Amino acid sequence: MPDLVAELESLARAARDAIAAAGDEPGLEALRVRYLGKKGELSAALRGMGQLAAEERPRVGEAANRVRDEVEALLARARERLEADRLERELRGPPLDVTLPGRGLVARGHRHPVTRTSEEIAQIFARLGYRVASGPEIELDWYNFEALNFPPDHPARDMQDTFFVDEATLGGPAPGALLRTHTSPIQIRAMKEAGRPPVRVVAPGRVYRSDFDQTHSPMFHQVEGFCVDRGITFADLKGTLAAFARAFFGPGTRTRFRPSYFPFVEPGAEVDVSCTICGGTGRKDSSRCGACKGTGWLEVLGAGMVHPVVLENVGFDPRAATGFAFGMGVERLTMLKYGIDDLRVFFDNDLRFLQQF
Ligand code: DAH
Repeated sequence: MPDLVAELESLARAARDAIAAAGDEPGLEALRVRYLGKKGELSAALRGMGQLAAEERPRVGEAANRVRDEVEALLARARERLEADRLERELRGPPLDVTLPGRGLVARGHRHPVTRTSEEIAQIFARLGYRVASGPEIELDWYNFEALNFPPDHPARDMQDTFFVDEATLGGPAPGALLRTHTSPIQIRAMKEAGRPPVRVVAPGRVYRSDFDQTHSPMFHQVEGFCVDRGITFADLKGTLAAFARAFFGPGTRTRFRPSYFPFVEPGAEVDVSCTICGGTGRKDSSRCGACKGTGWLEVLGAGMVHPVVLENVGFDPRAATGFAFGMGVERLTMLKYGIDDLRVFFDNDLRFLQQF
């Protein structure tokens, strides 16, 4: 009678050695089929069970189960080992490059013309030694008006159609909150922050006024600039803005200053540049230039010498320091530079317009 238990044990020994030597997954699978498969060696060995005496069978059955369990466990462990080896090799090997070159199907985006102009203006002043600053768009009355020498009932406030913010909207007490009507409050914030002169700042930002037509939008952009130091004069202002105009509009650009009124400067001025369309002649194609209405000049910004009251409001001594300030509309400058005649196109999101820049 065959000694089935001994046969099973020698099968187990052979399987142990073979599994330990297996080098890859297909090899392991072949061993599983060879030992445990339907037509495998374990099944073949058990075929002899029929010839056994009834009392022998439990012992053999038990040995067969033990061998099957052991071989299954060895196969599973060997599979894990191979998997771990493969991972280890991958991690040690050259890194996998998951990048794919672009297909060039999607056009690259670019900055909005208003953003470009703001940055260009800020850069011109940065080259002149100005620091770039910013301030909040929801501003307090004190910064937007009061500290800039607009007393509460001063008619100059009417020049700026203000959006006031009520407390319910802000969800808390906000006495005097409004959407800033100009970037001039950044003068106050920057000077208070600096604590003392010298201060040279350029500040681009969004501003808001209740206005809407071909040349006005309720939201638009300004760039504010100012310089406060010992002995700053109106000549410094003129030289600075003339240099800016040439850098922004081109080397041949001329500037002129006309007296004007802004509460936070004295004297105040409006500044014109020679017309970018007709070159300052007032005539275009033997008729009147439409851009400057035949005058040869375009108004581009407001400026002046910082009012002593403003300096006092930020704790500066107006006898020790003087300064100039200026503010300009970014949309307007962009329109003049590129010959655009309707400001609303900046905010229509029409790609046919935007892609031209
Ligand atoms: N803040 C003024 C406005 O929005 C523009 C302005 C004028 C700014 C004169 C200045 C300045 O700094 O000196 O109408």
